[in-house]
Amino acid sequence: MHHAGGVTSTPTSAAFAAPPSARIDLSAWWRHAVIYQIYPRSWADSDGDGIGDLPGVTARLGYLRDLGVDAVWLSPFYTSPQADGGYDVADYRDIDPLFGTRADADAMLARAHELGLKVIVDLVPNHSSDEHPWFTAALAAQPGSPERERYIFRDGTGVDGELPPNNWKSIFGGWAWTRVTEPGGTPGQWYLHLFDRKQPDFNWQSPEVRAEFESVLRFWLDRGVDGFRVDVAHGLVKEAGLPDWGEEQELLGHPEDLDRETLNPGGLNPGGLNPGGLNPGELNPGGLNLGELDPGDLDAEDDPSVGSPRTAEKRPPMWDQDGVHEIYEQWRKVLDSYGKPDRILCAEAWVEPAERAARYVRPTEMNQAFNFDFLQCPWKAPQLSTVIDHSLAAAGSVGAPSTWVLSNHDVVRHASRLGLSQDKRRPNGIGKDDVQPDRELGLRRARAATTLMLALPGAAYLYQGEELGLPDSTDLPNDVRQDPTFLRSKGAELGRDGCRVPMPWTKQGPSLGFGPSPATWLPQPASYADCAVDQQVGKQGSTLELYRSLIALRREHRLGDGSLRWLEEYAVQQDVVAFANEHPEGGSVAVVANLGSIPVTLPAGAVVLAGSGALDGDGSVPTDVTVWARI
Ligand code: GLC
Ligand code: MG
Repeated sequence: MHHAGGVTSTPTSAAFAAPPSARIDLSAWWRHAVIYQIYPRSWADSDGDGIGDLPGVTARLGYLRDLGVDAVWLSPFYTSPQADGGYDVADYRDIDPLFGTRADADAMLARAHELGLKVIVDLVPNHSSDEHPWFTAALAAQPGSPERERYIFRDGTGVDGELPPNNWKSIFGGWAWTRVTEPGGTPGQWYLHLFDRKQPDFNWQSPEVRAEFESVLRFWLDRGVDGFRVDVAHGLVKEAGLPDWGEEQELLGHPEDLDRETLNPGGLNPGGLNPGGLNPGELNPGGLNLGELDPGDLDAEDDPSVGSPRTAEKRPPMWDQDGVHEIYEQWRKVLDSYGKPDRILCAEAWVEPAERAARYVRPTEMNQAFNFDFLQCPWKAPQLSTVIDHSLAAAGSVGAPSTWVLSNHDVVRHASRLGLSQDKRRPNGIGKDDVQPDRELGLRRARAATTLMLALPGAAYLYQGEELGLPDSTDLPNDVRQDPTFLRSKGAELGRDGCRVPMPWTKQGPSLGFGPSPATWLPQPASYADCAVDQQVGKQGSTLELYRSLIALRREHRLGDGSLRWLEEYAVQQDVVAFANEHPEGGSVAVVANLGSIPVTLPAGAVVLAGSGALDGDGSVPTDVTVWARI
């Protein structure tokens, strides 16, 4: 039994209860896949412009085959002004010239398939770029026109419409509304953007919007993609009437048991992409239109990011509305019409609790949803055990596999995150002047965390470079930062650039092998040279070889579709996560993670298969090491 927050929870095996629908194919590829995320700007640059591109990806896909992953997910490569790293799409059917051409995309898909890799692309349905032709048409049209119906335009409040229509804030900081100038030259309506002002939210009540996205799905399915990662999947439908919201509004949640005041002494608001702590009177870097707003209107006292945690009864009107589900039911039908093997949908839905997230992966909707509870869990055994148990039970209750993830392009890499105090909220970017992560501790824990993650039943997501043990860059000069969070929060939040720095492939060479020239769109920190692929490949004990062996063993022992049984003999050991992963054909593998200071003994007769670090001389598991052993 493991203790979480003073409450004793008994892990169950509910995850493997009979699936609710006979239609479920338990052997489907995506249920146990290892999926590698490429952030295309930063993986491999073929033409030396300092920006990664699709020919760069294609040329290096062999590396992923050798790593042993099943699939690759690419962050957006579509036509985009790049106001938010491509999550601001101007043409959903074309490739941005930075990344290549449609022919390059076809070549990338063909090469991946030749190597046995599935390809998942990003779909951004909550908002487009303000440079999307539909939005420029909306600006040119009159209030109330069909063109404006595709987005969320409203008249302002105040005497003369000079105040935003409601009090919603942008996840990146500042108001979620920008006022437009009407075609006649007068100040006019406001449009909603939950993210940057260059990312206007679509109106999902519009049948045109719905039809357009089904057509976009078909466009990419026809080109052969194996699935979609759905950006901000919990945001498409807003509560009718767009009511004010006086509570927490951040996109990325945070552990509820941590106290904001004591953990945030410097006024930095590190909970993720949240809008707290800014003074809108001073904030106007991107031309954000704040009308006649008194700067005092939005000070710390009524900062909507300071409030009680959300509950199922009190959901923010912009997130997780029940109406999103009928959209995904429609999409499921579109994907199913392409037959076998399954084409998949994975939800990016920052939704709490896990039962709400499970609604996105009911048999008639998506296949997977990212497990952000796992990503956000501190490196503490009782919490981890509880999250694992809860995740499996919640996904299992609808017949879905759980997923697991530790890093992505929106969070501080886990090799850095786990090198920080685990009693503080995780930061949204780390700068030169902040407390620096303990590199050695972070890497040791990151390896242990990954070894734990890859033993869990379900699908696992890896983020480019984590297989090298890459840390975040913590010494980016502010003038190179590109995350809109940094600008919109006026530097109160450093944002996500630190985890997006280009990959080191070789120790020598311009841009550490990222491309043929020294150019990199963000500077690589000095520490990246020794992490380069060519320094780790074939080197025993390297993080890259650890990942390769874990992925191979996971396949051999069928861990991805095994079932989890908690090892009760470890229940009294507070700082240990210990379970067996069992599969009728793969055998039984004990997984023991020691997060405490006292060495932990393996089960009697266990034969070690892999470990994130060396065992003690007497064969016990030392601090911050995870071991897999045959039992
Ligand atoms: C998702 C993406 C993030 C992006 C945001 C707005 O959270 O992962 O990178 O900024 O959506 O599209
Ligand atoms: Mg390039």
